[in-house]
Amino acid sequence: MNLKQQSELPVHRVTEDPNNSYCLPKEYYTTQSVFDAEIEKIFFKSWVYAGHISKLSKRGDYITVDVHDQSIIIIKENANSISAYYNVCQHRAHTLLEGEGRALAITCPAHSWSYGLNGQLRSGPGLNELANFSTSSVCLTSVRVEEFCGLVFVNLDNDAEPLAGQVDGLKEKILSYVPHPEELVLAHRATREVKANWKCMMDNYLECYHCKSTHKRFCELVDMEGYSTTPYDNWSWHQGPGFPDPNSNEAEQTVNESFAGAQLWPNMTINFFPGRDNELMLFIAIPIDTETCLDIFEFYMPSAEITEETRAEIDWVVNVLTEEDIGLVENVQRGLKSKGFKDGRFVVNPQRSYLSEHAVHHFHRKILAVLEAE
Ligand code: FES
Ligand SMILES: [Fe+2]
Repeated sequence: MNLKQQSELPVHRVTEDPNNSYCLPKEYYTTQSVFDAEIEKIFFKSWVYAGHISKLSKRGDYITVDVHDQSIIIIKENANSISAYYNVCQHRAHTLLEGEGRALAITCPAHSWSYGLNGQLRSGPGLNELANFSTSSVCLTSVRVEEFCGLVFVNLDNDAEPLAGQVDGLKEKILSYVPHPEELVLAHRATREVKANWKCMMDNYLECYHCKSTHKRFCELVDMEGYSTTPYDNWSWHQGPGFPDPNSNEAEQTVNESFAGAQLWPNMTINFFPGRDNELMLFIAIPIDTETCLDIFEFYMPSAEITEETRAEIDWVVNVLTEEDIGLVENVQRGLKSKGFKDGRFVVNPQRSYLSEHAVHHFHRKILAVLEAE
């Protein structure tokens, strides 16, 4: 069913011109049919982040990722190729691999059917004597997989446009902050369940209109007057110059003096913090149900050995900066259930991006375009 035809959803007032537009109505954040449509039309058809290329360096290295209820294996098949498969045995549907590791064959724990790294069934107890059966007729179901700037993405849609073509210009931006992102390693990972719809986290990221009210230290680090927000079709770029560190002289100033971040459709951000050279921080909001998402934080650095100073920075990002956002966002989710709210006007001022929600408008337009497509 087309979402437009569903009577439980009110007519939205998201107009093409952001200057006259309202936000998505509250029902888009609380209704099961919207959530189900988002999973089918957005998450099963978009490039979603699976892990860092450093986890797939040797033949047989694998990681697994869930795209909602679909478990996927990503495995280094040989020196030049990474493959992805649905993580399900073709015998009676047991899960094949858990977590991450290295395997030179993919062997099902249930009855020991064993597949090559190319997904082809090779052997299984009793299969040689089985009438009218050939192992060569059985193969794991492939999934599209791509690497972009050291980050590995999967897409359950076989007809999807390649990721690099969807994010024209983003690679250059990332490489200007981290020239070799594929050489970084995971230094810290944290997760946090948030009582809010996944779109609330993205809405919040896409505007810094809340920054002066909510993030005191961030506004001491980053000059809000110079903050810019630029939406493109499938990604947006957010950047603000850092204030000079009063404790360091000019010679000690690091190359990266600004905050910058990219939001990738649908639910991921890549961030660079002032004073933190050659590091990137991923933030992902995984939809769990209409009113719950799982926030994932991954910090990639040149070494997994982190100093006390770096530990303090990580603590600030995860436990202060993001907690400020989570407090705001969980509060908004409660408000979206109020009988006293329908939708609100966007505040738009692209010349002064810290006073503007134009990238949230772009995101809401894209959500609607995808959900309303036949
Ligand atoms: S379900 Fe995998 S071998 Fe039986
Ligand atoms: Fe924020």
